[in-house]
Amino acid sequence: MSAQAKTTLPVPSDAELLQAQADLWRHSLYYLTPMALRCAVELGIPTAIYRLGGGASPAELITALSLPSSKLPFLRRLLRLLAASGVFTADDDGTTTTYRINAVSYLLVDGVPGDDRHICHTAFVLTATSTRYMDATMGLAGWFKKDVASPPFEALHGATLFHESMESLDADFHGAAKGALEAHDNLGIEIAMREFRDLFEGIQSMTYCCGAYGDDKFARVLVKAFPHIRCTVLAYPNTIDAAIKKAAGGLINYVEGDMFSSIPPSQTVVLKLILHHWTDEDCVKILSQCRKAIPPRKDGGKVLIGDIIIDYSDSRAMLETHLLMDVGMMTMTKGRQRDENEWRQIFMKAGFSDYKILKKFGARGVFEVYP
Ligand SMILES: C[S@@+](CC[C@H](N)C(=O)[O-])C[C@H]1O[C@@H](n2cnc3c(N)ncnc32)[C@H](O)[C@@H]1O
Repeated sequence: MSAQAKTTLPVPSDAELLQAQADLWRHSLYYLTPMALRCAVELGIPTAIYRLGGGASPAELITALSLPSSKLPFLRRLLRLLAASGVFTADDDGTTTTYRINAVSYLLVDGVPGDDRHICHTAFVLTATSTRYMDATMGLAGWFKKDVASPPFEALHGATLFHESMESLDADFHGAAKGALEAHDNLGIEIAMREFRDLFEGIQSMTYCCGAYGDDKFARVLVKAFPHIRCTVLAYPNTIDAAIKKAAGGLINYVEGDMFSSIPPSQTVVLKLILHHWTDEDCVKILSQCRKAIPPRKDGGKVLIGDIIIDYSDSRAMLETHLLMDVGMMTMTKGRQRDENEWRQIFMKAGFSDYKILKKFGARGVFEVYP
């Protein structure tokens, strides 16, 4: 499509055009950052730096990783990009640059001694930069031109993310995607137990929605820390086996069913990272079932929702994270991320009267929604 001449837009200045050209180079080449990150994960660079005491020069890494010495200048360039992107910190003494583990690369260290939390996020990097994701993203323009309901990922692969259909198609990818979910859960649960102690102490009974195949880990950890909570987990039929029940130590009542049809009654219904997988219409249906499952507000009835809240006043990096997660959901699932106004609209459509944002929690936020 060529631009028509009938425009009153001011012609950018030379300086603006030169800056714009650099900006376009950056926007078009941004994908190299996640590819460099994937390369670092595949080579085991964060773990190697950690084992070398938390800091290492490129030459030390060449030896530690048994890479050909001819690759030293290339490794320097890869590490320089990753440090500029915030994945490592870099100290330069004038002759040697030492790359150090920071909080981001700490999440990419495999097997930190004594760490039984299993928060290593390499599975997230490998999933988000996989050819399954990339290929789906490459098809976005073609997808826009077709009036189809399924997201690009499903349209291309004929399988749904996190679903048995994906497991049958590609068990390795499915395993990595589940590993990515587990890692973010493992990191979030422990911090949530501290951050939301007062909230959990006040809950008498809770239904945790969507706990198939061990997705109920949050509920299991919660009832062990707060055994006074009478907890029900709703899971799809045939997804709860004896091992999962045993892991819950008899503290959880498992109910098999479909959240679109009915949700087991409790004082509080919890939806943790569920609604962002669904369209607005589906969210209204799910929330309407939640409303039927809880008592009136005066008796403590509420729905607790943990999900992303897009906030345009957040830092640029956080806003960019949320908007990338949103286009990621658009490409891989039928879901989306929402700003507060969009959340409010689905709460009201589902018949709720009020809500409160309890807390921002890293990239996520927690809502209390009242009947
Ligand atoms: C992405 S997982 C999220 C699980 C978990 N809350 C978490 O934070 O990791 C989505 C879960 O929703 C479940 N699910 C999907 N549709 C459902 C339905 N209609 N009724 C009950 N569970 C459902 C899936 O089986 C899966 O356990």
